[in-house]
Amino acid sequence: MGEEQKQMLREILLSATILGVFGILGAALVAITWSATEERIAANQREMFLRNVYKLVPKEQVTNELLKDVITVNDPRLSARPVRVYRARHDGKPLALIFSPVESPGYAGPIRLMVGIGADGVLGGVRVLSHQETPGLGDKIDEQKSDWILSFSGKSLGNPPVEKWKVKKDGGIFDQFTGATITPRKIVAAVKRTLLYFQQEKDRLFKLPAETNPPNAPNH
Ligand SMILES: Cc1cc2nc3c(=O)[nH]c(=O)nc-3n(C[C@H](O)[C@H](O)[C@H](O)COP(=O)(O)O)c2cc1C
Repeated sequence: MGEEQKQMLREILLSATILGVFGILGAALVAITWSATEERIAANQREMFLRNVYKLVPKEQVTNELLKDVITVNDPRLSARPVRVYRARHDGKPLALIFSPVESPGYAGPIRLMVGIGADGVLGGVRVLSHQETPGLGDKIDEQKSDWILSFSGKSLGNPPVEKWKVKKDGGIFDQFTGATITPRKIVAAVKRTLLYFQQEKDRLFKLPAETNPPNAPNH
């Protein structure tokens, strides 16, 4: 091999090495940015989730890490899809359960609810996590649009009596919306279902061992 060819080979090798090093550096940078972004997104989701949770459970009374005190229940009495149950405790004693999401088919698509129930069976409250109901009709279930969803706070299976857990049009106590009865009817039924499930399963739900690998970011 002539001197000129050797020189050329050296230059090719050098270029290839430089390219390779930059390639690796680029890939590493993308990986680092991606994992940092993913963790940031998860942290935001946890924060949003907890903001909802603490509307339903008194934050100052919660002494456990409820995001890690979670079980998953898969029971058609409650919801067609698996529901995560977050357990809030005060000094080890049962304080409240957060069911999220309890899913119910609405008028236009699935409605996903967060339902918080105190250990005494009284509703801390209900929030709509997502829905596809019609703007101006069914979407008054959204806390941003009306106070309707707040009407569940403080209610329980005895208050009102079980047979009154219906919209007014069906003989119950809950308001429907003008021209939109289906959406509130579905939500009242889903909340009642959750209360009944709670009544039947509460002791077991508080006692079951927590999942060892809870999700990094809860579905908010
Ligand atoms: C385009 C369109 C969208 C509607 N969206 C909803 C809705 O989001 N939620 C709802 O309860 N009803 C909605 N309705 C009305 C329902 O079809 C139904 O008439 C209403 O809920 C009253 O139900 P009821 O007869 O069981 O009382 C919609 C109707 C139309 C035509």
